[in-house]
Amino acid sequence: MKTARHLALAVSLASAGAVGACQTSESAEGAAPVAAPSATVQRVRVTIDGVPAFGASVSQGGAERKVTTNGQGDAEVPLDPSVPGERWIVASFPTARARGVRVDPSTRLELELHAYADVDDPAYRFGPPGRAGVAGTAAECAHCHGAISAGFEESAHSTSASNPRVHDLYAGTAAARDTDDACADVGGTRVPGRTPGADGLTPRCYVGDSALARANPSCAAPPCDVTATKFAGCADCHAPAIDGALGGRDLLEARDAAFDGGVHCDLCHKVESIRDLGAPGVAGKLRVLRPSEPGPGPSGRLPITFGPYGDVGLPRMGSVGRTIFKDGQLCTGCHELSVTVAPSVRAPDGVLAVDSTSTEWAEGPMAGVPCQSCHGGRLDVANAAGGEHHDPNADLASGWPRPPGAVHDHKFCGPRGERDLAALALTLDLSTRVVGATLEVDATLTNRGAGHALPSGESMRALLLLVEATCDGVALAPTGGDVVPELGGAYARKVAGEDWSRWPGARIGQQLRVVTRSGAPRDYDGPGRFAKGALPASEKGLPEEALAGVRTITAVTPDGLVTLDAPLPKGDVIVLADAPGSTPDGRAARLAFTPGFAFARALVDASGRVQAPHFMATDVLFDDRLMPGRAAVTHHAFASTCEKPKVTARIVHRAFPPWLSDERGWAPRDRVEVEVTR
Ligand code: HEC
Ligand code: HEC
Ligand code: HEC
Ligand code: HEC
Ligand code: HEC
Repeated sequence: MKTARHLALAVSLASAGAVGACQTSESAEGAAPVAAPSATVQRVRVTIDGVPAFGASVSQGGAERKVTTNGQGDAEVPLDPSVPGERWIVASFPTARARGVRVDPSTRLELELHAYADVDDPAYRFGPPGRAGVAGTAAECAHCHGAISAGFEESAHSTSASNPRVHDLYAGTAAARDTDDACADVGGTRVPGRTPGADGLTPRCYVGDSALARANPSCAAPPCDVTATKFAGCADCHAPAIDGALGGRDLLEARDAAFDGGVHCDLCHKVESIRDLGAPGVAGKLRVLRPSEPGPGPSGRLPITFGPYGDVGLPRMGSVGRTIFKDGQLCTGCHELSVTVAPSVRAPDGVLAVDSTSTEWAEGPMAGVPCQSCHGGRLDVANAAGGEHHDPNADLASGWPRPPGAVHDHKFCGPRGERDLAALALTLDLSTRVVGATLEVDATLTNRGAGHALPSGESMRALLLLVEATCDGVALAPTGGDVVPELGGAYARKVAGEDWSRWPGARIGQQLRVVTRSGAPRDYDGPGRFAKGALPASEKGLPEEALAGVRTITAVTPDGLVTLDAPLPKGDVIVLADAPGSTPDGRAARLAFTPGFAFARALVDASGRVQAPHFMATDVLFDDRLMPGRAAVTHHAFASTCEKPKVTARIVHRAFPPWLSDERGWAPRDRVEVEVTR
């Protein structure tokens, strides 16, 4: 699958990422520090704990050229006179902290490295990230890394432990329903429970299912957070920096930086390696190494920092280079999750993939492109310690200039970021023709350049395709073709044979949408087991559906008898839902059976509810997400009233299923990612 074309697209997207709106500034002006012919050479000998180090990497601080020591630990480092400021030599080795000494060409310099203690010390306290723009103290990363910190503060990583939606699913609450009445409205109970990020009990609205209730079957009624003894693994990825034992911790134990900083600096940069231990997050795939050697650092320990360079001689950092920071492997430690269920045709081994971003990436055509090439832009800073409070003037303490574009921003932008990453990766083509009085539309959606399926990540996500047509600004009636399936949401649903005239609670302007079902299953080309030919279509969970008609409610009696703009067509299933484009106050629009389509991994719970949060899931109903390089074609028909109708198609990224955002009072997070008009 690794075709040249795929890689070319990936590279173009990756470099588009470098100049897109993800970062705040254009890349640095002026030329890169060019490695001038070396005036002199510095002879060095590198030892580790007194033994000559073979294969240590040595360079002049600020020069790009690196040399490697021979079997005697010796090397000759070319000196680059064009590097401004003081001249230092830095040596590094994978099992030792990097070290720098001043250049002295008159002698052979001895660089004595020491192997770090290869044990994780739970007594270490994670360093706080600090705040960009606030001077703080040298205990805080933002003190010296202002520009990187500013990006991090915008990222979803920085709020992963305080995110109210995560806490709502963890404890079974609706934080937004913060009065007794608002809570009772959704059938919840407001009783004292533990407060996210703080000590003590405060009234919380308990409603719906929760990870804690599932993990602690002995908890018969909320609040389970008060009695729980099992914690569902949520904190391992969402609050990985809780001090003390790593793994299996209670999300409600997160305080201070572990709560306010989420997946923060000192956690990611304490990851020594990624292991294949099945379980994600800390104590699972992430091998975290907190230093144990006493030292002068703010933590009372010798600092240790794993990072992409490894050539930083500043003792405050204790820099050790690791390739996991360059090739995307670090990200795979948390961006992959599955749960165990009873085996089914779609999950024969009982392993239900919840988030498979990392596998989709590793097995796809873009595996050679690191995640951050697309999810991080580049910063216009002199070096990695560039930023508001730390202007490097080229010495050991400030670091040396880096080539333009060397430093990545830390926004890790995605659908929640300010930048439209999806617009670079998704193409939507429309072809239209008018046949008699019918406008026929073919929409082709291609995942041209994402590193994984779209959508990816949390299985609550969906991409909705919405198609509409107009003549002179007047909407055309949709008459047939593909529709958004039922996961688009509906207020009510009926099948043929039921009374289709009465819809209690219906409002003027809402729509009744009818589909016919041929009884045949729909085949498609999804990821993994849902790929073309991998499973019989009958097991792929999507029925063949065609729109029979859309009617708008023009009047409604108190007992729900509706008047429509035209008589209802015949069909098999009918829903009461919102007109596309309408915004029901504070809730997600119900879009089932709108002309269009949907792409999602639809997990179901025991009651058959689609797009259930992963801890409730018992099976996967369908997975028609678009793999990299794949396209999906849909067909739509409208009653045309003019020769040249206008067709508009949109791709909307929907973060949560409507039933869930309603239950928890979450503001819907629908984002138009691509819009095409023809
Ligand atoms: C989700 C994990 C993660 C978090 C959180 C994180 N980093 Fe990084 N950091 C990385 C990765 C990956 C790279 C390598 C980027 C590259 O160069 O490709 C990196 C690189 C760096 C570098 C080297 C310069 C560069 O961009 O290559 C510095 C300095 C740094 N991070 C500091 C910080 C600070 C300060 C914070 C908190 C404000 C932070 N990091 C939070 C993963 C993380
Ligand atoms: C006193 C200033 C200072 C503080 C505080 C500080 N750093 Fe650094 N850090 C630096 C300098 C200087 C560099 C070198 C920059 C360069 O050469 O590009 C650096 C480099 C790094 C690197 C790159 C290391 C490598 O080998 O790839 C990482 C990662 C990093 N810092 C993370 C952190 C984290 C995490 C914190 C907070 C726990 C932190 N820093 C606090 C000054 C500081
Ligand atoms: C310690 C675990 C951990 C690591 C390591 C990690 N992430 Fe994340 N990431 C998370 C969590 C948890 C969230 C979701 C937070 C939330 O929504 O509350 C997230 C969210 C994201 C998002 C979603 C942003 C959006 O706009 O919706 C992106 C993109 C992302 N991470 C990329 C990365 C990349 C790239 C790396 C590697 C450099 C990485 N992550 C490493 C845990 C991690
Ligand atoms: C070639 C570019 C590219 C690479 C490589 C890449 N991604 Fe993405 N990623 C995207 C695009 C494009 C999106 C869609 C963004 C949107 O919908 O706004 C995305 C979305 C995401 C999301 C949000 C998913 C959703 O639908 O809400 C996460 C999380 C994520 N990526 C993590 C990763 C991780 C982790 C890696 C590496 C294992 C990675 N990505 C590699 C381009 C890439
Ligand atoms: C494997 C690591 C991992 C574990 C374990 C994990 N999550 Fe997540 N979670 C993520 C990542 C990564 C994202 C973001 C992906 C994306 O944006 O699509 C996320 C997103 C979420 C979101 C969406 C937040 C938002 O605002 O969009 C919720 C809610 C959530 N997780 C709840 C939980 C709960 C509850 C648990 C425990 C039952 C849990 N997660 C366990 C990694 C994890």
